[in-house]
Amino acid sequence: MAEIGIFVGTMYGNALLVAEEAQTILNEQGHQATLYEDPEPADWEKYQHKYALIVTSTTGQGDLPESIVPLFQFIRDSVGYQPELHYGVIALGDSTYSNFCGGGKQFDALLQEQNAQRVGEVLLIDASEDPEPETVSSPWVEHWSTLLK
Ligand SMILES: Cc1cc2nc3c(=O)[nH]c(=O)nc-3n(C[C@H](O)[C@H](O)[C@H](O)COP(=O)(O)O)c2cc1C
Repeated sequence: MAEIGIFVGTMYGNALLVAEEAQTILNEQGHQATLYEDPEPADWEKYQHKYALIVTSTTGQGDLPESIVPLFQFIRDSVGYQPELHYGVIALGDSTYSNFCGGGKQFDALLQEQNAQRVGEVLLIDASEDPEPETVSSPWVEHWSTLLK
C-alpha cells in the first residue's frame, strides 16, 4: 500500500476528471490516494518520502495552468533536492499546439533536476487524438499502480 498525493493543474476540468479517475483506481487497488485541486506547499511537503502523481494540462504556449503555478514555483524556488520523492506525470495537451504537453514536461524536468525518482514514463495525452482522456489514462494508472511499493 502506498500513499499518493495527486496534484492537479487544470483550466477547464479535463485534468481534474483524469485525476479523479486515477484516485478511484489507485484506491480500488489498495493504495491511499488524496487529490489536491489547488495544491499548496504544505500538501506537497507531506509526500517527500512517498508518491506524487502530477496530472496537469497545458495552456498559453506550453505553460502550466494557474491552479498549479504556485506549487511549481514553490518547488523550484524553495524545495531543491528531493531524492526520496517518487513521482509520476500525466500530461494533457493538444498536438495542434507547438509546445505539446509543455506543462507536464516542465514539471517532469524540474523534478528530474531535483533528483526525484520517476516511476514509469510520462503519459502524454493528446486532446486531438483522444477526446476522452480517461480512456488513455486509466490503463496507464492501472499499470503505474503496480509499480508502487
Ligand atoms: C488557450 C489554450 C492554450 C493551449 N496551449 C497548449 C499548448 O501550448 N500545448 C499543448 O499541448 N496544449 C495546449 N492546449 C490544449 C490543452 O492543454 C488541452 O485541451 C487539455 O485537454 C485541457 O485540459 P484542462 O481542461 O484540464 O485544462 C491549450 C488549450 C487552450 C484552450
